[in-house]
Amino acid sequence: MLPAKSHSHSRISTTNRLHTSHRRRAFLQPRSSAAPTNAPPASSTLAEQVRSHFPILHQQVHSNKQLIYLDNAATSQKPKHVLDTLYDYYSGYNSNVHRGVHALSARSTAAYEDARVKIATLINASSPEEIVYTRNASEAINLVACSWGEVNISAGDEIILSVAEHHSNLVPWQLLAQRKGAILKFVKLTADTQELDMDHLASLVNPGKTKLVSLVHVSNALGCKTPAAIVAEIAARAKGCRILLDCCQSVPNMPVDVTTLGADFIVASSHKMCGPTGIGFLWGKKEVLESMPPWMGGGEMIQDVYLDRSTYADPPSRFEAGTPAIGEAIGLGAAADYLKDIGLDKIDAYEEELGGYLYEKLSAVDGVEIYGPSPGSSKYGRAALATFNVKGIHPTDLSTILDQSGIAVRSGHLCTQPLHRELGVSSSCRASPYFYNTVGEIDAFVEGLRDAVQFFREVGG
Ligand SMILES: Cc1ncc(COP(=O)(O)O)c(C=O)c1O
Repeated sequence: MLPAKSHSHSRISTTNRLHTSHRRRAFLQPRSSAAPTNAPPASSTLAEQVRSHFPILHQQVHSNKQLIYLDNAATSQKPKHVLDTLYDYYSGYNSNVHRGVHALSARSTAAYEDARVKIATLINASSPEEIVYTRNASEAINLVACSWGEVNISAGDEIILSVAEHHSNLVPWQLLAQRKGAILKFVKLTADTQELDMDHLASLVNPGKTKLVSLVHVSNALGCKTPAAIVAEIAARAKGCRILLDCCQSVPNMPVDVTTLGADFIVASSHKMCGPTGIGFLWGKKEVLESMPPWMGGGEMIQDVYLDRSTYADPPSRFEAGTPAIGEAIGLGAAADYLKDIGLDKIDAYEEELGGYLYEKLSAVDGVEIYGPSPGSSKYGRAALATFNVKGIHPTDLSTILDQSGIAVRSGHLCTQPLHRELGVSSSCRASPYFYNTVGEIDAFVEGLRDAVQFFREVGG
């Protein structure tokens, strides 16, 4: 067994000690000399400024190991602002929405609809009515497949996905294709950089047949970013073709503006963007949502109900049958506000630096192979996460040993089994930092990994 090491606070301090480039040093300094009186100390990073907002990060696991949480692509941690919002809702005005005239119901309805406005503001939607609450991103994709797909996909129609899709953006289309006799086509990866191959996408588009292009915006496994503008230009060759972008890994980490993105639908999950679980959203262009039939029946989604038929509410209510996750929606609104206040451009810039640093340090570990484009080779940009394998060592063994040192990373197929087959492996390890992770934590992770590799090399002979 690997001798467990503890992370002293000095080991994870975020001084610039291992930063080599001038650019990176400059990044870690405040940009303006005219700092406000409550400005953080000059040496602090974005992570240092926000860490106190996240109570969960300040704990030790396995008795005495400082938690280093690097599993943010699976789910993010929640700031106090979101936790307080949830507490205020459940302790102060918990009540069902839209159907009560009493004080609590009026308050919860206002907060629930206000949260929709906050989400719309975060992604620059033209109207809050373009935001449909769902349980998560998976449900949002299923909604599009079952509602839009039901009336727009027929036998022989083609849907373009990629080999890098999360199962959530794959299985709903498989089910639709099986129901309708439609054809699924898959964009492959570029051989040199392991990004989505836009030339291949162009070759797959079949005017008259291609009805939908549904792609991951930022891959949860490869970290590669999809150039939405290029996708839109290519998809436009098939008249009437719709575009869905799976923005689970982009909305939490970078500015996403649906007015310039070129998509007809985007989906995201609250729990990956500092919000609670049990809630996510679909954004759809108003006229597209208006053209779609309901997919689930029940209260909230109706206009008039008779014994033998019903008429339906306008979007978004048309797609929100039953009592929604009210507190969670309000919590998601608080998360949207929190991210907006920090600034998605600031988060993006910080993560680019941190991700570059992670990539550089990780690549130097003996036997490591990192998947996806390198920061230098990437055509369209790369997220901060790093998915990797170490030659001869099972990723679950690595993550188990890292966990003993308090370091939380993910291992497995990352809900991308077809991609893993494409990469020639069955599983991998993934470290995914967020804006509250420090350079020191990356150092501790890489050091822990090095120790683990050495241990397995020793026991394996
Ligand atoms: C790229 C991507 N798409 C879809 C999902 C599914 O999200 P959820 O499970 O919250 O529906 C995830 C979650 O890991 C993801 O990373």
